[in-house]
Amino acid sequence: MKKLTTTILIVLFCAVTNAVMGNNVKPVNFIPLPQEVTYNDGTFLMDNQLVLCTANADKFNIGYLAKHLNRVFDFTVSQSSKTSGTNYIRFVRESSMGDEEYRLVVDNKGITITSKTKAGEFYAIQTLLQMMPAEIYAPLEGPNRMLLKQWTLPQIKISDFPRFVYRGNMLDVSRTFFDKQYILRHIDWLAYHKINKFHIHLADDNGWRVEIKKYPLLTERGAWRGYGEALVPSFNSGKARYGGFYTQDDIREMVAYAAERNIEIIPEIDLPGHSKSVTSTYPEVLCKTSAEFLSVQGEGKNVFCVGNEANYKMLDNIMKEISKLFPSEYIHIGGDEVQMKAWKECPDCQALMQKEGMTDEKQLLGYFVGRMEKILQKYGKKLAGWDEIVEDNELQPDSRVYAWRRMNVALAAIQKGRPTVTQIGEYCYIDMKYSPIERGHNWAGIVSLEKMYSFDPIGSFNLSKEQEKLIIGPQAGLWAEMLIFPPHFSEYQLYPRLCILSEIGWTLQDKRDFKDFENRLTLSHYERLYDMGIAFRLPYPTVTYQNNTIDVEAPAPSLVVRYTMDKSEPTINSPVFSGKIITDTPQNFRFATFFATNKSITVPVPDVEVYMTPEVKVTTSLKANKYTNTTTLEDWDFGTYFRTADAPVKGDWLMFTFTEPVKCQTIKVNTNIPVTQFWGVTDGHVEYSYDGINFIDAGQFDIHNSVTIEHISAEVKAVRILIDGSGEEKAIAIQDLRIQ
Ligand code: ACM
Ligand code: ZN
Repeated sequence: MKKLTTTILIVLFCAVTNAVMGNNVKPVNFIPLPQEVTYNDGTFLMDNQLVLCTANADKFNIGYLAKHLNRVFDFTVSQSSKTSGTNYIRFVRESSMGDEEYRLVVDNKGITITSKTKAGEFYAIQTLLQMMPAEIYAPLEGPNRMLLKQWTLPQIKISDFPRFVYRGNMLDVSRTFFDKQYILRHIDWLAYHKINKFHIHLADDNGWRVEIKKYPLLTERGAWRGYGEALVPSFNSGKARYGGFYTQDDIREMVAYAAERNIEIIPEIDLPGHSKSVTSTYPEVLCKTSAEFLSVQGEGKNVFCVGNEANYKMLDNIMKEISKLFPSEYIHIGGDEVQMKAWKECPDCQALMQKEGMTDEKQLLGYFVGRMEKILQKYGKKLAGWDEIVEDNELQPDSRVYAWRRMNVALAAIQKGRPTVTQIGEYCYIDMKYSPIERGHNWAGIVSLEKMYSFDPIGSFNLSKEQEKLIIGPQAGLWAEMLIFPPHFSEYQLYPRLCILSEIGWTLQDKRDFKDFENRLTLSHYERLYDMGIAFRLPYPTVTYQNNTIDVEAPAPSLVVRYTMDKSEPTINSPVFSGKIITDTPQNFRFATFFATNKSITVPVPDVEVYMTPEVKVTTSLKANKYTNTTTLEDWDFGTYFRTADAPVKGDWLMFTFTEPVKCQTIKVNTNIPVTQFWGVTDGHVEYSYDGINFIDAGQFDIHNSVTIEHISAEVKAVRILIDGSGEEKAIAIQDLRIQ
């Protein structure tokens, strides 16, 4: 503890000294790190004499820069078409530079930005913003606005260009819908990080999100789920009508907004699988078979028939509208995780195989992709798809592969000479957990900051220079099945991971160092993210309990840990932890890391949460899936759970009956999978009984799919879960009771 206190003191001392000397903190903690940064002696003072020279500059860029400067300065930055004088920000165009390259020089007279294109200029402006107070990112009005009279910059020369032409983020807007306003903010955040591609996953089993004039039912019905809707509830959307879509005007607005910020939006319509939102609305696109085969996500009847010629007409019509809406060079058609068994049973698909001399259904996927390439070509577009499209198929030479499963499939794609984006699960799937105790998937592993940072998009293969060039860049993908709650969980998963993606995509490999990145993040960039208004993730504290003493380590010296003593979640008003805590009731303490009002997850003291383990029998009307059974709820192993094979229906129940009545204070009934919080009950309630005959209502399941039984006045004989609606998700999971 002593060490920690000392470090905090040193940091405070530095901060005070900088305040006294002025604000010329150096080095500036840039993210992504520019390729070459040289500090010169001396400073440049920006004050109310500052002139923004508009000559040579892009009009949007000038307005963007002025808007940001005016957020923090107590004077209007004046603009002039002259290029000379002093106290300026001026722009120079140099045709020999690269497309996104720039030079940023601060000397004693002013700031000079040199670039070939407006994209390079835009990135120079981003770098300049990082030399300003973080409040430049906060669109505050009124008394909360920062009002600087002046600002001192170090004299500096930055020569910078990106390592990769493609620096992407994918967001799934199907499983969770993000409205236009959110997408515009998201685009702003990407731009601050010099990310230049936004891959928007617009259609999947759980919702179709883009208006298609020719097929209005795609959004009138296919964009909505809930009881009585075209799509059943999924991923905690609950029984109420859930969904939404972008009108064509919305799309045009998003595309233009992104383009101004040097971001290309690449639309994905996931085909021919992942298509429940189409097949539930236009079932005629399905194969001619009544058999239902489930996809890996457990969806039946979600695959287009590839032998039905009418489907290509429909897809042509859809792509015609998509191609008009999105100016991107590529349209992504998915192609992943197709359940092909229906193709085997379907007379149309089988007839096509015969006609084309195919021997394996996988070849039908190749045929489908080939047809889509031709359709897209008609509209001046190239095809992109997940790595399955290159597996057993030939592609057009410039069709683009998005490698997601392993680095080896990226290698296979480049060996076939196809341009490839690397969004490899174990590094780039940011729906994975940051750490074992946090929410998120883990099927591709834990994507910690360090793990993600270690990703080199070109891998460690022995590639020729030509092959290396085929890897056009990295992308971080956020699948959205866990993003409906808690609020802002998308931002938690995105940041600071997109800061890492930004640096992986931008900064040359030999200039990257995780510890250095972490310092820049902690010392400056968390504050920028905070001012951007992002509910980003902070690492949580390490908490230990030994010899009656709780010890806590903050994840970084500049972050504080706050705590509570009553099991409640720490807030910004909770006391700051310092020293050690001597206690014999450690189970009542909770700790969380804070940056301003942003807080990390709340962690309890480990290994002291003790639950009772009375003998219990579980009976139920629910059918278990093949991996679980009711004994998983009788074993008091809190890591295991019961999961159903199907969706429950109204009246379904599961009952815990204790062999001997249990004397206790609270019983927490958790549904869903531990930590991941998948497959929870959203429409049901819990009852308990002292005699096993008469039951008392303990309330409905909350947003966390839990009910806590309180005010227990006698020994409890039984607890039961009752399902109140038909239309829950495809399955539910139930955990061991937590009795205290
Ligand atoms: C994917 O994760 N199915 C591309
Ligand atoms: Zn078929």
